[in-house]
Amino acid sequence: MTDDDNYVLHTGKPIIGKIERTLLPNGTWNQVITTKIPMYDRGGQIIGTMGITRDMTMYANLEQERTNMMQSAFSVLGRTLAVRDPYTYGHNHNVANISEKVGRELGWDENRLLSLRLAAEMHDLGKISIPLDILNKPGKLNDAEYRLIQEHVKTSYDIIKDSHFPALFANAIYQHHERLDGSGYPRGLKEGEILPEARVLAVSDVLESMSSYRPYRESLGIDKALDELEKGRNLHYDAAIVDIITKLADNNGRKPFWLDN
Ligand SMILES: [Fe+2]
Repeated sequence: MTDDDNYVLHTGKPIIGKIERTLLPNGTWNQVITTKIPMYDRGGQIIGTMGITRDMTMYANLEQERTNMMQSAFSVLGRTLAVRDPYTYGHNHNVANISEKVGRELGWDENRLLSLRLAAEMHDLGKISIPLDILNKPGKLNDAEYRLIQEHVKTSYDIIKDSHFPALFANAIYQHHERLDGSGYPRGLKEGEILPEARVLAVSDVLESMSSYRPYRESLGIDKALDELEKGRNLHYDAAIVDIITKLADNNGRKPFWLDN
């Protein structure tokens, strides 16, 4: 008798759609889905179980292949951006690494983490429309230049919004410069109007951009970035996310914890 049968017999609770993956000796995965329900006699006593197990390997492989293709398409898009502007590409990628770690600490499931990661990889894609001499200009930007930089959010959103991704994906990108007190852009959204995904992107974005070298300035350092986040805790940035980021940084001796190996 299997563990599943024992569980159903002893608890009387059904098992519905339990998915199990097994690594086969040839290195491929086998995936099955099991449903099992209790059977009762006339007196209401459980006398056995009834169930069905279906081999889902082919569907699972197809699904995995689709996910791989989608991730490849994103990485081609990212590398295209890198040809023109390696700093924005590196920034997007690092923000994706940070965001994924934060999402994991928040207990988000793998699907949600994948969406968050892809949104992060694309969040500054709209900077492709900004002339490089403005993007990399040392010193202070004038008002017109600053407005142009701000437009990258809408451009990123416009590029993504009509694709076949959940609306949340494009909206998280659209909101990544919003701040809890309404002082962000482009729409001055507040508190509950800002998606959790966008809050993660916002905090990860500040940490990465302040900690990293840019052609127009030296790195400001991770301590300064964490100070900025602490100052804006609850005012600009989600307090729980600031705490997670600070913990991740502390656990890594206040060194960048998001770099690829
Ligand atoms: Fe941005």
